[in-house]
Amino acid sequence: MLLNNIKDVKTIIQQWKKEGLTIGLVPTMGALHIGHASLIKKAKETCDRVVVSVFVNPIQFGPNEDFQKYPRTLKKDEELCNELGADIVFAPSAIEMYGENTGLCNNELTFVCPAYNIVDALCGKSRPGHFDGVATVVLKLFNISKADYAFFGQKDAQQLFIIKKMVKDLNLDIKIISCPIVREHDGLAVSSRNIYLSESEREQALTISKALFHIKELYSKGIKDTSVLFDSAISILDKNIELDYLEFRDFSTFEKAQMAQENTLVAIAAKAGKTRLIDNIIL
Ligand code: PAJ
Repeated sequence: MLLNNIKDVKTIIQQWKKEGLTIGLVPTMGALHIGHASLIKKAKETCDRVVVSVFVNPIQFGPNEDFQKYPRTLKKDEELCNELGADIVFAPSAIEMYGENTGLCNNELTFVCPAYNIVDALCGKSRPGHFDGVATVVLKLFNISKADYAFFGQKDAQQLFIIKKMVKDLNLDIKIISCPIVREHDGLAVSSRNIYLSESEREQALTISKALFHIKELYSKGIKDTSVLFDSAISILDKNIELDYLEFRDFSTFEKAQMAQENTLVAIAAKAGKTRLIDNIIL
C-alpha cells in the first residue's frame, strides 16, 4: 500500500500496535536495487509488518550535490516492495515531512546533531551537514513508524554507526539491524549512484572493491600495519580514480586504527568521473 501522508501511516500503525504486531522499518531514498531488497527481505523475516520509506531527503544533500538529479523511480520501487511483501510504502513529499518553508539549507527546523567526533570524519568531512540531515530524517521516520526494528546496510558504515549511537544516546526504543553489503558479481558494491557511471568509469570503480579485498587478503596473511595496507591498496586503485579517503577505524569506537585487527573498518570514498562512491569492509 502506497501512502504519502504521515497521518494515514500513523493510523494504520496504531492499529497494528494494538494487535501486538512487530513493525520493521527500512528507510530508503528509493531507486531501489538488490541491496535495498536484501534489507526488506531481512525485515520480512524479522517482523510481522514492514514499512519501507522512499524519500529523497533534501536536508542531507549539500548545495552542490545531486539532490535534483538523484534517480526517482517510485512506480518501480512500489512494485518491488509489493513483490517482496512490504506492507506500507511511505513516500511523503518534502512539504509533508518538513512543512511549507523548508528548503535545502534552512534554519527553521529542529535538527538532530550526531556526535561530533564521528561526524567530523570520513564522509562527514567532505559533506558538512549531511549526517545532521540523515539523523534528523531517520529520527522522524522512527517516530512516524513506531518501528520496533529498523534495517540499515553496512554499505553506509558511518551512517550505521551514527544511527546506532543516536539510538543509544537518545534512549530510543528501537533495535537497529545491520545488513551485509550486496555486491555485483564482480565485486562492485551495488548503489543507486552506479547508474551515473559510464562503461570506462565502471571499470575504474571496480578497483575500489578490489583494493579493499586486497587489504583483506594481506591482513589474513598477517600484515597488520595500516600504513603498509594503505600503500598496497592505493597501488591497486585505477589512476583516474580520485581518492577522497581510505581509512582504518575501530568499528566499535570509530577511533583511527594504527594496527588492523578484528572489527577494524576499512572505509573508502572515491570519485569515478563525477560520481562519488563509497565502500568498506570489516576485517
Ligand atoms: P539509501 O542510499 O537509499 O540507502 C538505504 C539503505 O540501503 C541504507 O541503509 C543503505 O546502507 C542500504 N544499502 C544501499 N546499498 C546497499 C548495498 N549494496 N548493500 C546493502 N545495503 C545497501 O542511506 C540512505 O538511503 C539515506 O541516507 C537514509 C538512511 C534513507 C536517510 O535518508
